[in-house]
Amino acid sequence: MAIPDLNGKWVVVTGAASGIGLATASAFARHGARLVVSDINRDALAIVATDIARRGTECLYFQVNVADEQAMRNFADEVYAKVGAVDVLVNNAGIGYLGPFLHSPVESWRRVLDINVMGVVHGCHAFGRRMVEAGGARQIVNVASLAGIAPAPNMSAYAASKHAVMGLSDVLAMELAGTEVGVSAICPGIINTPITRNPSTISPAISEEQIGRLRAYYDAKGAVPQVVAQAIVDAVRRGRPLVLVGPYAKPMYHIKRFSRSLARFLTISDARKSGYL
Ligand code: NAI
Repeated sequence: MAIPDLNGKWVVVTGAASGIGLATASAFARHGARLVVSDINRDALAIVATDIARRGTECLYFQVNVADEQAMRNFADEVYAKVGAVDVLVNNAGIGYLGPFLHSPVESWRRVLDINVMGVVHGCHAFGRRMVEAGGARQIVNVASLAGIAPAPNMSAYAASKHAVMGLSDVLAMELAGTEVGVSAICPGIINTPITRNPSTISPAISEEQIGRLRAYYDAKGAVPQVVAQAIVDAVRRGRPLVLVGPYAKPMYHIKRFSRSLARFLTISDARKSGYL
């Protein structure tokens, strides 16, 4: 539900040590919100939290693996004990995965689904109930992807995970429609962050040459994460259910609705340039 004035509101951001999460935490801080930031990477997170606090924003930080149900419950309990029910929850933590389906091991699928899907499930479970019970306008923000609408080749596990986040967000929004808690699904296009630089998220079947093309494409065409951060802040302030942001997100959304075969043709044509093929 729309929260036009973020001043003094408590905002949780997962995966806040890098990229979109880092930019989002900073954007909420600039709007006067108070922050709870979490990430699996403790060292990077501590630097981010110290930097936010140095600029005068109240900021708590927690090292948490979003895929760990118990850790997420403990995280939510500690946050509730310290600040009460939070006003905004941004389920942002996620990983990519690049690899042809026939050469993507099941363990890679499990890892992507555990983090990208179950991380969002745990976040919504652990924080959501208290947000509803507390009353007042609050917002759950789930960072999906354009891959949750119009994916490219070599991203089957990632696309499946982001379609799941879209489905969960749709259903949760309907179930919470009678409450003051709204749900936003965020679908960024190509955003230049370190997400493509984690070797553990690339199948051995992908060549160095292809990885090089993909990274060069993100460097050249990717939007900066601050663009997504601002769109997330706007979505919370206006209570927007769906945000399409960054290169290709809006056009591909509409093309896919108009013609699935045209969307497929355009995506495959572009995939050699982008490094997805
Ligand atoms: P990033 O790699 O810069 O940041 C992801 C952060 O999540 C990192 O700080 C990482 O340590 C953290 N993280 C990873 N696994 C975690 C776990 N198990 N528990 C807690 N924290 C964990 O990536 P980026 O690009 O900022 O991605 C953020 C979100 O945006 C992800 O959900 C991603 O799928 C989504 N997204 C990114 C796009 C892009 O082009 N960069 C496009 C569309 C969506």
